[in-house]
Amino acid sequence: MKRAKIVTLIKSEAPQASILIKGWVRTRRDAKGFSFLEINDGSCLKNIQVVADETMANYEEIRKISTGSAVTVTGRLVASKGKGQQWEVQAEQVDTLHLAPESFPLQKKRHTDEFLRTIAHLRPRTNKYGAVFRIRSELSFAIHNFFRERGFRYVHTPIITGSDCEGAGELFRVTTLLPEVPRNPDGTVDVTRDFFGTEANLTVSGQLSAEMLALSLGDVYTFGPTFRAENSNTRRHVAEFWMVEPEMAFCDLTGNMDLGEDLIRYLTRFIMENCADDVALFANFVDKGLMATLETIANSDFERIPYAEAVHILLGARQNFEFEPADGKDLQSEHERFLTETLFKKPVIVYDYPKTIKPFYMRLNDDNATVAAMDVLVPGIGEIIGGSQREERLDVLEKRMDEAGLPKEPYWWYLDARRYGSVEHSGFGLGFERMLMLLTGITNIRDVIAFPRTPGVIEF
Ligand code: 4AD
Ligand code: MG
Repeated sequence: MKRAKIVTLIKSEAPQASILIKGWVRTRRDAKGFSFLEINDGSCLKNIQVVADETMANYEEIRKISTGSAVTVTGRLVASKGKGQQWEVQAEQVDTLHLAPESFPLQKKRHTDEFLRTIAHLRPRTNKYGAVFRIRSELSFAIHNFFRERGFRYVHTPIITGSDCEGAGELFRVTTLLPEVPRNPDGTVDVTRDFFGTEANLTVSGQLSAEMLALSLGDVYTFGPTFRAENSNTRRHVAEFWMVEPEMAFCDLTGNMDLGEDLIRYLTRFIMENCADDVALFANFVDKGLMATLETIANSDFERIPYAEAVHILLGARQNFEFEPADGKDLQSEHERFLTETLFKKPVIVYDYPKTIKPFYMRLNDDNATVAAMDVLVPGIGEIIGGSQREERLDVLEKRMDEAGLPKEPYWWYLDARRYGSVEHSGFGLGFERMLMLLTGITNIRDVIAFPRTPGVIEF
């Protein structure tokens, strides 16, 4: 007999004479003549209730089945006499696959997120984290659907690279030289003897490579892991995260903003429609305002304001910020959240940032002071998307690299793309984990990725 998943059983239209289920016991309770087992197999939020009656041959064993144990059940799917569920399983046979001892940490009670982080290997077995990882899966497919429907090609860019796209120096070095590092006479590391014959690191963004493919295929996107050795222990940073990076040839900043807006609205609607049960859990237990936030995002046009205006608003706001906003400085997350949460009460796109606080590849505006950058800010999080129109003029790009103190040699191929058929093009990066935080109301990024990597933490 083929194993039936609980997600299909609970949607059954009629009783079924003979089914087989396998799963983990959430709880067991005994009544006179019966033992009731709540079984979950991870296929959906709901458990299925299994009723074992005392006439079963191994009834005494069944009454020893503990929370966390794995079982296999054969029986009949029948209309439930109890409240709260349409169907239940009248067991014909219940066998224990593996009995969990009492030390199983997920006994039926509320656990804090902090505690659950210490058992990240088991937390997907809770309702909340099961829901997180199901939504994470659906969201991945939604991303591919969105781009595919619009004719974008999915491209793969290198994980190991020789360049620092963002120029922020937050790189994880990749090397085979350890532990005996060969040195030059002056004491510096002899990188010519390293695996690639030069320095290498994990990518912080696939953008530079994606640009090459966009300038060949038109509209492309990457969706993969990125790595940043940022030593910031915040609620919205991890050292390993996933980024969605579309890149479009023949597209300016406005087209780029339009795509970012469309993407966030689409993903929000998709998850509201396709993960309704799991989303309801977050609306009930994590963030009471979640449904209202999601409705707003799914149905509103995002506010768009230039950076200069954003700073002007912040300076005039009667609000005690920890960091004073200042023209020419980057926005802090508290500033971003003020704009989107308090002032506009919907997503906000801030564009045209000072060139001094943005990477070399962003297109210089005619004012010579700002670049065609855009950040999308959302309630509860702040920045969720960072992007720009790219500098397509070779001379301007070289000048910006000089100003940034970047060596041109490693970027020869990037500059080459500006020599042959250079055209306006744009793209952005959407933080996948931040999108999950938005959709679930979860406030700590460590709780939307199964095994988070943060400074000092590499467990699991
Ligand atoms: O704004 P960022 O740094 O942009 C880029 O890397 C561009 N090269 C993308 C592009 O234009 N193709 O990062 C993009 C997004 C941020 O808005 C944020 O959502 C997320 O990536 N992000 C992080 N998410 C989790 N942990 C971190 N440490 C993150 N750093 C950035
Ligand atoms: Mg950014």
